[in-house]
Amino acid sequence: MAKWRKACAVDDFQSTYKFVYRRKEIALYKLEDGIYATDNSCSHEYSPLHEGMIIGDDVYCPKHGSRFDIRTGAVKDFPATRPVATYPTKVEDGYVWVKM
Ligand code: FES
Repeated sequence: MAKWRKACAVDDFQSTYKFVYRRKEIALYKLEDGIYATDNSCSHEYSPLHEGMIIGDDVYCPKHGSRFDIRTGAVKDFPATRPVATYPTKVEDGYVWVKM
């Protein structure tokens, strides 16, 4: 059952952050309207998405440039063909929480 996990302080990062919980890596993204979370591993060949380039609401994988919608995890550009998982987030008392 998914539970809320404390990831980091909101002020700990500018645009992306890697949160690790029990060996599972989650990428956090700060967008204009809030903080979002996806699996950190690209669905193509497992590169870390928190190192990717953010343009608008999309993250570009640093290895081959697949583009994912940060809000939904959907693939918007190849070579990836499978989405990445997304996770609910919330901010409380200055900390980011991820439900996973
Ligand atoms: S590893 Fe991400 S696009 Fe290839």
